[in-house]
Amino acid sequence: MKVTDLHVEYLKNPIGLDEKKPRFSWKIISDENDVVQSAYQIFVESNNRLVWDSGKRESGASVLIEYDGVELNPCTKYDVQVTVWDNKGNEDIIDAFFETGLFSGSNFQAEWITHDFIDDETACPIFVREFYVNKEIESVRIYATSLGIYEIKLNGEKVGDTFFAPGWTNYHKRLQYQTYANEELLIGQNNKIEIAVGNGWYKGIFGFECKPNLYGDRVAALVEVHISYKDGTKEVIPTDTSWKVTSGSIRYSEIYMGETFDSTIQEMKLSDVIVTNFDKNRLVSQESEPVRITQRLPSKEFIITPKGEKVIDFGQNLTGFVEFKIKGHKGQKVTIRHAEVLDKEGNLYTETLRQAISVDNFICNGEEQTFRPHFTFHGFRYICVEGLEEINIEDFTACVLHTQMEETGSFKTSNPLINQLQSNIQWGQRGNFLDIPTDCPQRDERLGWTGDAQVFAGTAAYNYNVALFFTKWLRDLKSEQTVEFGVPHIVPNILGDQGGAAAWSDAATIIPWVVYQTYGDTRILENQYDSMTGWVDYISNQCGSNGLWQSGYQYGDWLALDKEEGADRTGATDKYLVANAYYAYSTDIVRKTARILNKVEDANKYDELYEKIKKTFNVEYITATGRMVSETQTGCVLALHFDLAEEKYRSRILESLTRNIANHKNHLTTGFVGTPYLCHALTENNEHALAGTLLLKEDYPSWLYSVKKGATTIWERWNSILPSGDFEESGMNSLNHYAYGSIGEWMYGKLAGINQHEPGYKKILIKPQFIKGISSVEATFESVYGEIKSAWSCENKKINVTVTIPANTTAVIFLPEKDEPIEVGSGSYSYEYKTETNLELDRFSMDSTLQEILNEPIAINILNQYAPGMLNHPMIEFAYQLSVSEILATGPAETESLFKTVIDQLNQTSTAV
Ligand code: BGC
Repeated sequence: MKVTDLHVEYLKNPIGLDEKKPRFSWKIISDENDVVQSAYQIFVESNNRLVWDSGKRESGASVLIEYDGVELNPCTKYDVQVTVWDNKGNEDIIDAFFETGLFSGSNFQAEWITHDFIDDETACPIFVREFYVNKEIESVRIYATSLGIYEIKLNGEKVGDTFFAPGWTNYHKRLQYQTYANEELLIGQNNKIEIAVGNGWYKGIFGFECKPNLYGDRVAALVEVHISYKDGTKEVIPTDTSWKVTSGSIRYSEIYMGETFDSTIQEMKLSDVIVTNFDKNRLVSQESEPVRITQRLPSKEFIITPKGEKVIDFGQNLTGFVEFKIKGHKGQKVTIRHAEVLDKEGNLYTETLRQAISVDNFICNGEEQTFRPHFTFHGFRYICVEGLEEINIEDFTACVLHTQMEETGSFKTSNPLINQLQSNIQWGQRGNFLDIPTDCPQRDERLGWTGDAQVFAGTAAYNYNVALFFTKWLRDLKSEQTVEFGVPHIVPNILGDQGGAAAWSDAATIIPWVVYQTYGDTRILENQYDSMTGWVDYISNQCGSNGLWQSGYQYGDWLALDKEEGADRTGATDKYLVANAYYAYSTDIVRKTARILNKVEDANKYDELYEKIKKTFNVEYITATGRMVSETQTGCVLALHFDLAEEKYRSRILESLTRNIANHKNHLTTGFVGTPYLCHALTENNEHALAGTLLLKEDYPSWLYSVKKGATTIWERWNSILPSGDFEESGMNSLNHYAYGSIGEWMYGKLAGINQHEPGYKKILIKPQFIKGISSVEATFESVYGEIKSAWSCENKKINVTVTIPANTTAVIFLPEKDEPIEVGSGSYSYEYKTETNLELDRFSMDSTLQEILNEPIAINILNQYAPGMLNHPMIEFAYQLSVSEILATGPAETESLFKTVIDQLNQTSTAV
């Protein structure tokens, strides 16, 4: 037995942690089966002084154990040691450490400094200080933040490997600072520290109107260098009036617009800094993992387009920037334009960027140089290079940038198109989890749309560890929330006051719930509790005398295909049906949360409210005979999946749903609201095969349509690129929008079968479910206890299932085609058994057209025999091009079994494709 991955607040040996009661988690690895932890003991020491001994606790708890020792001091290193005992008589010890940050903004001794460049407005200021060190150094810490985004250099070298610090938060209330440990950069006695600050989100051109100065009109810096010497003395070098300021090579930098870097600029004149003010009480330490370059992609192809553009293809739509090597002549300007796609003629297509021009310019100094921008990022797959006679594509590298979350999921199947879909979903997450969850990374938006984050959160939590990423963002959400307006549509909110909207503002309840379910993190529920209840109470205040929310702006089933798009894009499902479905869902989450947090009175209150909403929902939106008022796919899906419809209505609603799908030739028509739940609702209601049919559709609208069109990320619209190769032209057409990637949750949960049985995966549910067209799946999920694996194949009349369950958890396994579930402890298990099931796609299905069926003489025989005269019906030729399911959706019920017989017969007598 071995204990691994001792983490403090989800991080490995973090520094600059401002958590007063940090939590410890570890994993157990063992070769034996059925291993559980029987006890643990935690010691925390600082400078060889014990500050906490948890005592030996007979407990299986190994995740997020709260520190409960002597009050922690700021800027102090703590060593942690955990001893673990298991039920097999083994024992192991693991060590880690954490170091606290400043704990409070008021502990910053530094002063905010800014500049006063009137004539040089677009250039980024660089704050400079030289300092002298004449003693031996023990350690160095730099605590830094800015209004704008910054990069620090010590003696000419970049400090740290992170980008876009201090990140984007609700600067009106919260601003992160970062801690760096870089003693190796202090090289001698004379040292120089430089802090360049770009406009970033604070002052830059941002938002729909592309206006500058959203939070303020001057960038500023707040930094202090703490040096501890070997002789025990300490020195602090804070920003103050002793610093100087200049403007350097970054002449212009805007997130949307790009950067201009002029390396011919010589050292400029230094001016005095100006001391400025920004409330230090708003400072908090870095809360999530930082943004880093997580991958470097080489160029794939060089293309000269019909228009003569010199284009490099990186083969993947991504978020980041390009780095390139060059030895240009002094003054030579190289321009890089970015685009997600080429048009059907093969020219660079930049319309998806809207007003975000995304152009980087570099001016060479005559030496060999490597360029990359500093304070901008782009969403692109292609770049167009100007200003270079000869292009050597090996000199260009795409740097992929995003919040560096731990990758936790993998998902592979026998179907290459589904594997590409999974890749597109993951790339969509990587491209849009850049410090905040954005809608898209390329156009003049890149905003923290709450709805997009909400629908994707479940999928996101399979692919990457999103605990800290969402913890940070939810604190901003809470800080932006008001009694009067509820939860904003974007966080951080730069759109101003707007009343909350269903499915968007419900991020306030749904995302903490996803984090709790995935990691067993109850602290997020505690911290967000007021925000969660506040959101539900806000809705209650909007309700009319019937107890329903039927007023105010709603996004409905955003971008659904069941209504002409027109001006409002909200789909055909009654917007207030959607609103009240979410009202019930959020209330359900809040009542469960209250119970978990032992708030009994609240739990009872929200129980009552929940029952009331459900009842009223049935009265208003379901007829007395069980038909939905909005008989759309999304209307039915919400009533079923949110468990809103009374039991007696469920079968009729399911029938409406499957009929609706059949009427669309087995295609979805759902938008942002219905899409994440559509396949879940079908699988949960014995229509798993139909869910599989939807997943594997390759023509528009479907998930695989974009894959077949060569997409490498998820598109904003089902038809962002039209079958003709033209683009959807509504002015809102991103090729990297993760919302429809929300199918990922169903792929992991229902196809691979990896689910939590109890929050945080302490008990696991493995329940793989087959669909035709996929004969094997292999998925892993790195839970807080360790890796869970579910792999199955159903080939050559044999089913194989392999499952891995991490130590200190148990699982229930439902094997396909077996009735009884199996309860297991940790370990790896393999099952092999016979089957008659063949998962290859049949040649004929309910999707075949009548014409295709009638091309087969056996079909004609059977139909003539069991439904004499049917094929002589005068209108029959109008049905030739309809699919069988479409015919059945309007025809009498008896025909269904007849057609099933025909299709079975045809498949038995023809070779499968
Ligand atoms: C965004 C969406 C967002 C929507 C809401 C769009 O511009 O890109 O993804 O949720 O607006 O209206």
